[in-house]
Amino acid sequence: MAKVLEPNPMVYFEGEFVPLAEARVGLLTHALHYGTGVFEGIRAYWSEDDCEVYLFRAREHFERWKTNARLLKMEIPLTAQELTALTCELIARNDFRQDLYVRPLVYKSRQGIGVHFGPECEFAIVALPFGAYIDSSNGLRVCVSSWRRIEDNAIPARGKICGAYVNSALAGEEARANGFDEAIFLTADGHVAEGSASNIFLVRNGRLVTPPVYDDILEGITRSTVMDLARDIWLETTERRIDRSELYVAEEIFFAGTAFEIAPVVEVDHRRVGAGAVGPITRRLQQSYAEIVRGKTARGAHWRMGAYREAGVKVPR
Ligand SMILES: Cc1ncc(COP(=O)(O)O)c(C=O)c1O
Repeated sequence: MAKVLEPNPMVYFEGEFVPLAEARVGLLTHALHYGTGVFEGIRAYWSEDDCEVYLFRAREHFERWKTNARLLKMEIPLTAQELTALTCELIARNDFRQDLYVRPLVYKSRQGIGVHFGPECEFAIVALPFGAYIDSSNGLRVCVSSWRRIEDNAIPARGKICGAYVNSALAGEEARANGFDEAIFLTADGHVAEGSASNIFLVRNGRLVTPPVYDDILEGITRSTVMDLARDIWLETTERRIDRSELYVAEEIFFAGTAFEIAPVVEVDHRRVGAGAVGPITRRLQQSYAEIVRGKTARGAHWRMGAYREAGVKVPR
């Protein structure tokens, strides 16, 4: 028997707004069997002061989505601007007044058996109330995964391809089963890549370093935000190969991603990171990130989009 979905917001599915419970795909959908979809994850933050929901860097997420869809020969027939406007309308239709996660998904929709995917594809956008992805207030205790990161010549990690997240799920599950909060992937040749669903930064000798885009990572939007915010405090980020052992000697480590936001790491493989507490650079970046996404500062205004304002709806105070 079908479960009653709670919450059951309106979603955008096959060209119209329908309740989530009615947005169903067939059992033989290609993407369900073979992972042939490309998704995105966008956060939106409720501001009580402004009576507004702020979408964060929606244009960049939709642009990445459209670009990545082409890896699987899919075209999303709307511009990033139109997709942003559609998402604002979705938020307004649901009358959301809380923090949200927006999940755009484009997928191969051919019905049938066979790995060849055919030209058929559909896309959907779902917005759901969403809080912290993981409690990182006291810092995360993490491990280096025994699972290696998928290589670009196998499944491109930069693609945000549905099937690629089996790799992330295996690493995350293993980490939690072994009592850790999260996993760090190494590339096939043993360099630090990223977390299961976030990019990684280290502070080494007072400088910020992060793996380069050619080390099988998602080219994260939060990663680029962090690099920008670091410049505000006179820190340049070096994108370079990172050895595993650097994880054990770094002064600070944090994950950066839409879901994770900026999440400090205080222990790797049972070794303390720095003093074993949230470090000063991480703390500073966390604070400015939190202010920017919630619209508490003029900094980063070009990254925010007021959903109700864009949809032409005034929220009563
Ligand atoms: C594997 C992986 N790396 C990094 C990120 C962070 O990317 P972004 O900051 O664009 O959300 C994500 C986000 O979902 C991810 O799944």
